[in-house]
Amino acid sequence: MTRLSTVLLTLAVSGLSQALRFLGRVNPATRELTWPATGVSFSFTGTSASVAVTSISGTNSVELLIDGGTPIIIENVNGTSISTPSLVRGHHTVQLRKRSETVYGTFTLGDVNIIRGSLGADSISRRRIQIIGDSISVGYGLDGTYPCTNSAFLENAPKTYGALTAKNLSAEFDILAWSGIGLIRNTIGSSDPVLMPQLWTRYGTNDEDNSYPFPKAETPDIVVINLGTNDFSYLGVRDPVNATMLTDGMIAFAETIRGHYPNAELFLTSSPMLSDTYPTAEDAQHTTHVSVLNAAAEKLGSKAHVVDFPTQGSEVGCDYHPNAAEHEKMAAILTSAIQEVMW
Ligand SMILES: *[C@@H]1O[C@H](CO)[C@@H](O)[C@H](O)[C@H]1NC(C)=O
Ligand SMILES: *[C@@H]1O[C@H](CO)[C@@H](O)[C@H](O)[C@H]1NC(C)=O
Ligand SMILES: *[C@@H]1O[C@H](CO)[C@@H](O)[C@H](O)[C@H]1NC(C)=O
Repeated sequence: MTRLSTVLLTLAVSGLSQALRFLGRVNPATRELTWPATGVSFSFTGTSASVAVTSISGTNSVELLIDGGTPIIIENVNGTSISTPSLVRGHHTVQLRKRSETVYGTFTLGDVNIIRGSLGADSISRRRIQIIGDSISVGYGLDGTYPCTNSAFLENAPKTYGALTAKNLSAEFDILAWSGIGLIRNTIGSSDPVLMPQLWTRYGTNDEDNSYPFPKAETPDIVVINLGTNDFSYLGVRDPVNATMLTDGMIAFAETIRGHYPNAELFLTSSPMLSDTYPTAEDAQHTTHVSVLNAAAEKLGSKAHVVDFPTQGSEVGCDYHPNAAEHEKMAAILTSAIQEVMW
């Protein structure tokens, strides 16, 4: 009798650890959600489930997607757990994702608890896309209407072009993005010395450089690099970016990425925030950026592709960032660019 219940208990526990799966780049040793759109995915049979929250720093906005329905938005995670509402008894899928970036806050997850029910299997796509970028890829100000002050609540990583493209292609995705970050220099006014090629080597954004062990299971088929917007900013503060140095920076970073993912197709994207009229027509920043990407792609060879996101329209989110409609346009462009090459 005692022996039987011990066996059942062991099975239940091992089933649980198998079913719980992190979304995005999450260090399993810390279980800290740092990068945008990181979270957890599971399915269960029962009426409700909760995920323990073991520590919180700052402000964190999350979405809870149940059975693929309309996301439940939590403006700021608080307390010791995040729970689903009471659901009809049956089989349900749950995806919890962070909407905001590290600058606003991070939090750590404990275990999943099923109320009167059991955890089930979680389905994983074999395809994986990695998006590397700045505030555009973060979803900074996406849910705001200009003029507005960005906040954790107005960021929306799960509605970014990267997340939408992954959804279009039924792929898992990792968004490795940080507002203000650049390839060879950060945005004007930033005192942060960390550039994207360095931040990219971290498991969680708060972990040490080179802490990410590049697990085989997280190897992307596609890497999207959306960088340069911040490098181009200069007005009244510094010289315009040197296009040759930016090209060399892109090639060097892409080659480092390829060192880890030799089979990945690389998609280098332009910025919808750069135009050929601002700050001056002479700068022609959008066209210059595209030339930089073309020069880099040519050097990188057949597995590198350029995706030109046109300069965005006049309706924008906070601080001129792409809004939800713009992200949808970008997703359509990126989806077809990827489909031309694969899948
Ligand atoms: C905690 O979060 C919940 C869900 O978003 C919210 O309804 C509640 O007001 C928050 N409590 C505090 C003290 O902020
Ligand atoms: C840009 O950088 C390259 C390589 O370092 C250098 O040769 C060139 O003179 C620079 N161009 C300008 C306009 O500063
Ligand atoms: C991809 O998603 C976007 C936005 O969600 C949509 O506008 C677009 O048409 C989709 N493209 C394809 C090929 O499914």
